[in-house]
Amino acid sequence: MKYQNPDIESSYAEHDLGKDLYEAVLKHKPKKIIEFGCLYGYSTIAMAMALEELRQGKIIVYDLFDKYQYKHSTKKVTQENINKYGLQKYVELKDMDFEKWLKNPEPFDMMHFDISNNGEKLEHLYGAVKPFIDQGAMVYFEGGTKERDNIDWMNKYGFKKMTESNVPYEVVNAKFPSLSLIKKI
Ligand SMILES: C[S@@+](CC[C@H](N)C(=O)[O-])C[C@H]1O[C@@H](n2cnc3c(N)ncnc32)[C@H](O)[C@@H]1O
Repeated sequence: MKYQNPDIESSYAEHDLGKDLYEAVLKHKPKKIIEFGCLYGYSTIAMAMALEELRQGKIIVYDLFDKYQYKHSTKKVTQENINKYGLQKYVELKDMDFEKWLKNPEPFDMMHFDISNNGEKLEHLYGAVKPFIDQGAMVYFEGGTKERDNIDWMNKYGFKKMTESNVPYEVVNAKFPSLSLIKKI
């Protein structure tokens, strides 16, 4: 499926960061993608468009859905958005808390991590998935720039900044809210 900026509410939409996720999938050709944090499905749909183009692969999406106390979607609404694009065969939505998943992480080829990220969450993720990264898995995550680190709620709650974390990464697209990549060094 040719890429189009998904018509779904998302902080990624203004600068079309979905295109970077789409291109990442075409480049790495992952058989198994894990996504943490889909909200209404913007990033999921962007990646699934590339799987449709490749005619292979699956995205396992973990989210808290209506158990998340801040801005969230329901599984039903997000599933309907994915269906509107005809991409349901590439996506499985599951209820899962990232903190729980960390206790028994499963392997993957590519991950997109977007759960109101901060430096601490990023360090927890990296600690758990480093063995997979060392075997070639790619981890894309929302954020990674100083601009993103300095948004209101990061400063208000005093969260650790991603730019000050001990996680080695490169910024793929610096346009707000930015997208970054952790890969084997
Ligand atoms: C910023 S939104 C994701 C945006 C989405 N990727 C997009 O393209 O628009 C954050 C999402 O993370 C989910 N979330 C927050 N904490 C979580 C956790 N501990 N485990 C799983 N999902 C979580 C929320 O329910 C919400 O849907």
